[in-house]
Amino acid sequence: MRNFFFCKMKIILVAGARPNFMKIAPLVRAMKRRNSKFKIILVHTGQHYDDRMSKIFFKDLGIPEPDVYLGVGSGTHSHQTGKIMMKFEKVLLKEKPDLVMVVGDVNSTLAAALSAVKLHIPLAHVEAGLRSYDRRMPEEINRVVVDVLSDYLFTPSPDANENLKKEGIPEEKIFLVGDVMVDTLLQFKVKSLKLRVLTRLNLRKKEYALLTLHRPSNVDNQENFLKVLRALKEISRRIPIVFPAHPRTRKNIKKFKLMGRGFTQIRADKNILSHSEVKPKNPRDPSLRAQGDINPVNLRSSASKNIYLLEPLGYLEFLKLMMESKFVMTDSGGIQEETTVLNIPCLTLRDTTERPITIKEGTNILVGNDTKKIIKEAKKILDGQGKKAGKSVSRLWDGKAADRIVSVIKDIC
Ligand code: UD1
Repeated sequence: MRNFFFCKMKIILVAGARPNFMKIAPLVRAMKRRNSKFKIILVHTGQHYDDRMSKIFFKDLGIPEPDVYLGVGSGTHSHQTGKIMMKFEKVLLKEKPDLVMVVGDVNSTLAAALSAVKLHIPLAHVEAGLRSYDRRMPEEINRVVVDVLSDYLFTPSPDANENLKKEGIPEEKIFLVGDVMVDTLLQFKVKSLKLRVLTRLNLRKKEYALLTLHRPSNVDNQENFLKVLRALKEISRRIPIVFPAHPRTRKNIKKFKLMGRGFTQIRADKNILSHSEVKPKNPRDPSLRAQGDINPVNLRSSASKNIYLLEPLGYLEFLKLMMESKFVMTDSGGIQEETTVLNIPCLTLRDTTERPITIKEGTNILVGNDTKKIIKEAKKILDGQGKKAGKSVSRLWDGKAADRIVSVIKDIC
């Protein structure tokens, strides 16, 4: 039996994919501040494994090396989820934690949650209650299942509480704590602003747009991908677009032969850079070559002046590019929130969002992959009519969400 006064909780904190890392960073810090209370075991599933998808975030955010690395790698949804479960179960049996904490909505989140509850280990979900109500998104399925399984549901915004209540989750399990991603953003804003990434890319403040694109619905489907690319071509006539591309997107650019089609149409040309070779000189210099699985010859034969295709960036560099941009186009979840906090206009290249607060109170607009709509909204921003964030959105987005979570779980044992 536990002695209340000497109780030290053993918590397994799980992360696996890029959007998890900025969420665990403040949790690790908040728990480490109460070292006498918590023993944390950090488990990295290895869902993301490239240095630029994983290691760079640990370094940028000062997250300690994982205690356990499962090394599952890529695969179909079932394959990846199953593999994580099999490996994670062994960790649980060995460590017998008091609590498993998962964050976000990726396959690692789902797999770890399932393994924990099957062994009757209490489960906490950070970023609970978000719903896009689009079950074609794998993340939506992950969210719904993890929330139904969780004992402690930490929500980022009031709409998430409403969603959970509608689904019959008992109120005593739900804790409105704010957004851990904002904790990280506020902590690293100043450090990130000091980086010289704009100089390196020969960009000027507020004179470029930033793009991320990796959702299967946009990049696994050639027709949808082309619809977005047509809009980008048009927008890039007025403003350079900086595009750090996810590995999934790069693969599909190659698979659909978009170098010769889509990207040629958007006039990609010699402005395409590889992050690893970016130097403090004019990126229009034709001597610069694209690298990786992008064919430099095809790129250079195209006509565009305004698409900068980069390797995936680390947290700090990406934050800097986001802060200094004129606007952001994205199909990511977290970036919708980050742009709202930073008061940067955001066009979300999706039909739905699990973060409606960023539309209601923030800078976000849903444009889907509708070519005309993307162009129309981008032009509005370029003409000075970008959306501004309201003040109320930030009430609990104050950099203290992780502390609130730790205050709740410290009383568990
Ligand atoms: C996953 C998440 C998604 C999140 C995204 C952020 C799920 C269901 N999806 O999608 O919610 O927005 O991460 O990046 O969990 N790959 C590499 N190197 C890596 C990782 C992946 O090359 O380090 C390639 C592999 O070919 C892999 C593909 O990217 O098959 C997709 O990776 P996967 O983790 O399956 O899904 P994401 O699209 O990254």
